Amino acid sequence: MEPKDDYARAINAHYDHAGGLEAAIDRGLRVAGHDLATLRPEDLAAVDQFHLGGPGSTRALLARAGLPQGAAVLDVGGGLGGAARALALEAECRVTVLDLTAAFVRVGVNLTARTGLSSRVRFGQGDATRLPFGAASFDAVWAQHSAMNIPDKGALYGECCRVLRPGGRLALHEVLAGPAGAVRYPVPWARTAALSDLAAPDMLRGLLGAAGLREAAWEDVTAEARRSAERLLGRLAAPEGPPPLGPHLFLGPGTVELMQNLALNLAEGRVTVAQGVFLKE
Ligand SMILES: C[S@@+](CC[C@H](N)C(=O)[O-])C[C@H]1O[C@@H](n2cnc3c(N)ncnc32)[C@H](O)[C@@H]1O
Repeated sequence: MEPKDDYARAINAHYDHAGGLEAAIDRGLRVAGHDLATLRPEDLAAVDQFHLGGPGSTRALLARAGLPQGAAVLDVGGGLGGAARALALEAECRVTVLDLTAAFVRVGVNLTARTGLSSRVRFGQGDATRLPFGAASFDAVWAQHSAMNIPDKGALYGECCRVLRPGGRLALHEVLAGPAGAVRYPVPWARTAALSDLAAPDMLRGLLGAAGLREAAWEDVTAEARRSAERLLGRLAAPEGPPPLGPHLFLGPGTVELMQNLALNLAEGRVTVAQGVFLKE
């Protein structure tokens, strides 16, 4: 679906910077030695889990979140659906991915079909601040690096709370504002400050409480995130060129600079990273 407003257009232009994403992923898979005819979800992890720590941080959040087996989960800002497919496989969840970037939704649908998970993972395109779902539709909301482009976080978390059933939970893993001052741009979620909106940790926790979500767990994971950013930067900037699969397939040729700034922002305390679990009572 074509984006309808300037904000949606800007998000789509940022995350679909390079175009031709599925063909680029297929080329990368071939170069990495994967068999396209028997594609496995884990073959995609370097490109479809677009958050610090990759599949490891998804697994850590899953362990922390305590989702019941078979839970109905909304992955808000779920991108290409890597985390959604991991939840479907590892906890038999039925996951709905909602994302504003049309290319992620289109390619995510195809990758899900190609990995045999369409019965458990479905996709929709839309804005996380206006969720197209009824009240109390989900056992859990999953949000990994989903809020960094969203200025109206009151609306975002209000909507997350609305679609959760009582007793349901929000599991989040987010990049947040750090204590050391302004972020250096460009970064992987925004080429300029205009598309970025980071909440400070206490502000975020306050917003979640005001939305009706009680904190059950909160953990600063900046140190792990920093190590992961530095590892990925090392791979992307390797003298022999970037790896076959990675965020450069959608962010384009400037990806090394985006990752350099992210690593620097983490090292200098300009951004922090936290994970948390919040309950609707
Ligand atoms: C850094 S990516 C993370 C994607 C995914 N959660 C993951 O971990 O792989 C941020 C995602 O948020 C999506 N996004 C940004 N603003 C959004 C909004 N207002 N509504 C829905 N999705 C949004 C982007 O399209 C992008 O896919």
